[in-house]
Amino acid sequence: VEFDQDRHAMNRPLRVAHRGGAGLAPENTLAAFRQGLAFKADAVELDLHMSRDGALIVTHDPDLTRVTGTAGNIHEFTLAQLQQLNAAATYKDKTMEPQRIPTLQDVLELVRGHAKVQIEIKVRADDTRYAGIEAKVVDAVRHYDMIDDAAVISFDFPTLRDINALEPRLQTCALCSIPYFARFGLRRDHAKAVEDIASQGFRCVGAKHTTMTERLFRAFRARDIQVGVWTVNSEADIRKFAAMGVHFITSDRPDLLQKWVLDA
Ligand code: G3P
Ligand code: CA
Repeated sequence: VEFDQDRHAMNRPLRVAHRGGAGLAPENTLAAFRQGLAFKADAVELDLHMSRDGALIVTHDPDLTRVTGTAGNIHEFTLAQLQQLNAAATYKDKTMEPQRIPTLQDVLELVRGHAKVQIEIKVRADDTRYAGIEAKVVDAVRHYDMIDDAAVISFDFPTLRDINALEPRLQTCALCSIPYFARFGLRRDHAKAVEDIASQGFRCVGAKHTTMTERLFRAFRARDIQVGVWTVNSEADIRKFAAMGVHFITSDRPDLLQKWVLDA
């Protein structure tokens, strides 16, 4: 199911719970993904790295310090070592019970049948790619029979091209932030950015919401490119982007996304 067909059927953007629902529970933990499901998000978003022994690890940063309080890069640890760490160690609510860093398989097992998933493939701290991560992601998505309910998203466009080659049915979405648009000039040459995305064959962009204007949105739509925005955490901005007609809205607050649907 393509995101645009969903939108057509629902006549509203897909509601995506960012890092599971990072505003409500420790980001990228099963506790967060349960929040996303509890508030009926259409999809959950997760960030993906790879351990030293090739396991698919769900956490945002390539370095473990900010989330777990333990220094070091994910690719230097085995899965067993990573599972000793507490992904709630630095969470604002100190009464939160310890959380394990999940694997991609843990998350797919939890959300399958309840929500779609946006899998963001990250790169290492030195900007190099995790060798073989794309094939492992395709295998996991196939294993959980979620080809129609998953999208791979990334700031790293070669990663997306590899996914397209491995499994053309798996939707991909090119993430664009301020440095991407800045390449086209300070005043952002919309035409050039849209042409760049279109010429690389991408059918979907996920843009930092502060970069998305009506004009840029219309330019992408004129090339039949779907547009999503992240990370939209206020009710006013949720309403603004829904009115613009975006295909998905990613938020740390799946509760606000649900409230918007109930209020509409
Ligand atoms: O959903 C896209 C968004 O998550 C990209 O930014 O840094 O939160 O992974 P980041
Ligand atoms: Ca992300």
